[in-house]
Amino acid sequence: MTTDAKILFALRANPEGVSGAQLAEQLAISRAAIWSRIEELRQAGYEIEAGPHFGYRLVSSPDALHADDLLARLGKTKVIGRDIRVFEETTSTNDVIEKLARDGVKEGVVVFAESQTKGRGRLGRKWTSPTHKGLWFSILLRPELSPQETTQLTVASATALRRAIKNVAGISAEIKWPNDLLIGEKKVVGILTEMSAEVDRVRHVILGIGVDVNQDAAEFPPELRKIATSLKVEAGKEICRAELATEILRELDFDYARICGGKFAQVADEWETGCLTIGKNVSVQMGARQIRGCAEALDDDGALLVRTEHGHLERVIGGDVTLEK
Ligand code: BTN
Repeated sequence: MTTDAKILFALRANPEGVSGAQLAEQLAISRAAIWSRIEELRQAGYEIEAGPHFGYRLVSSPDALHADDLLARLGKTKVIGRDIRVFEETTSTNDVIEKLARDGVKEGVVVFAESQTKGRGRLGRKWTSPTHKGLWFSILLRPELSPQETTQLTVASATALRRAIKNVAGISAEIKWPNDLLIGEKKVVGILTEMSAEVDRVRHVILGIGVDVNQDAAEFPPELRKIATSLKVEAGKEICRAELATEILRELDFDYARICGGKFAQVADEWETGCLTIGKNVSVQMGARQIRGCAEALDDDGALLVRTEHGHLERVIGGDVTLEK
């Protein structure tokens, strides 16, 4: 953790205040150095009170993502979030991670951007990422999975995001296979999983996640208003993006450990509980091919098993799934 992250961690752990002397001792730096870091944090928008009786006290944090703040809020995780980087603007956070992957950076690094100029979704779609309104981030993973097992990661991401949204915003979102979270039939989260692999070995996986957090309904482009929503619209209040971001990383870290520990079955059970696709009639568009049938279950790799009109069981690993009315 950086010095700023340690200071923010100590301030959050002591809401009634912590003295400059205590901070200096804990961090093994001078009181003058602490004072200068506190000034920097104030410049960055943190409201930090100082007084002779309580020392330093954190009053409020800015609505901006700061790597140090996210690290301090997150605390220790096994893999995901041990390195966090925040950009004011990028093309796509998946591109930034791709470059880090090629440079040999360790798995678990997370890149957030306050806005993306070329945010992308599945199937070549564009992803709108307005500044400071959502969480637009990507994670580098190097799992020991075969290429076909990587669908497990998308499934795990959906369950982790669902728990995090429930914990922070108090809303139960529903999962639409494989990678959407919906509230009342409107999309609030999208996940784009990209992978670099050899025939039987994954080199790395990039999990790109977009969460619509604090947009008002009117802020969505007209073409998205009927199909997309934000947590703010649904919860009726602003959501602290930094708190949500760290809760998501914590839950993802937990599910990633379950997958790497061979416990995908547990994740899949939880996924099925929160999934609106299972048991429904669906149509699946896979390139030029379309199938129709009933979505029965997930298989061991996270693929969707669809019983077609002709009675065959089809294994779906990609494509666009629409619920039939
Ligand atoms: C989808 O539903 O089609 C997936 C959308 C994924 C969007 C996120 S935002 C962060 C990351 N960077 C991107 O360019 N896309 C993903």
